[in-house]
Amino acid sequence: MSALLRLDALLSRFGYCSRSEARAWIKAGRVLVGAAVAKSPSDKATPANVLVDGEPVEHPHGILALLHKPAGCVCSHDSDEGPTIYDLLPPRWLARNPAVTSIGRLDKDVTGALLVTDDGELVHRWTSPKHKVAKIYEVTVAEDLPADIAEVFASGTLTLEGEDKPCLPARVEILGARQARLEIIEGRYHQVKRMFASQGCPVVRLHRSRFGDFTADDLAPGEWRLISPQAAGAGATSACRES
Ligand code: URA
Repeated sequence: MSALLRLDALLSRFGYCSRSEARAWIKAGRVLVGAAVAKSPSDKATPANVLVDGEPVEHPHGILALLHKPAGCVCSHDSDEGPTIYDLLPPRWLARNPAVTSIGRLDKDVTGALLVTDDGELVHRWTSPKHKVAKIYEVTVAEDLPADIAEVFASGTLTLEGEDKPCLPARVEILGARQARLEIIEGRYHQVKRMFASQGCPVVRLHRSRFGDFTADDLAPGEWRLISPQAAGAGATSACRES
């Protein structure tokens, strides 16, 4: 973000304080624009040119990070639903406006690669079925996999219970009697669990090993790392596969 912003809007946008609190922060000399102490909440600056308490404004160009989602937390901003993925991230990321949010969701019991960002356009682009971001899941099921499952998933005719439109063709690799790797380019509600359940195989463990170009398997569950804008651009391009 390189636009000029009023300092009170800027401090609120980047999660430091509310617009109304900004006046006191500025009066206390906590905010510098370049080398000069800021004077008024209505002064304008670019985020990358501002220091707060002697430190540059964090992530002035936006946040994109990859989290290894652990089991037991939900992808919701509502803590009534139990521990959330946002408990694992720096609190200031949530105080930003817009706040950081996940790009799509994983169920509470599901682990693996989950992107988070404060860029609403990116959320839209990478969750829209039109963009066909490939997602790979490692699946363990409770019953032996039927011999024709790869054919059924690849057929483009599998219609899930309660839906009218069949799933797009999906690739499955059989890794064992009860283990498989599935690649899908959609993100329907509980899609992987419902696909396997439709073939008589309830899922007992589900791990997303890849989202687009990104894998979180080098991170411990609960850890995250920032993704550079360059990597994000490349990931976005090759994340999308032709149907
Ligand atoms: N499919 C599911 O069933 N659950 C997830 O969390 C993701 C894909």
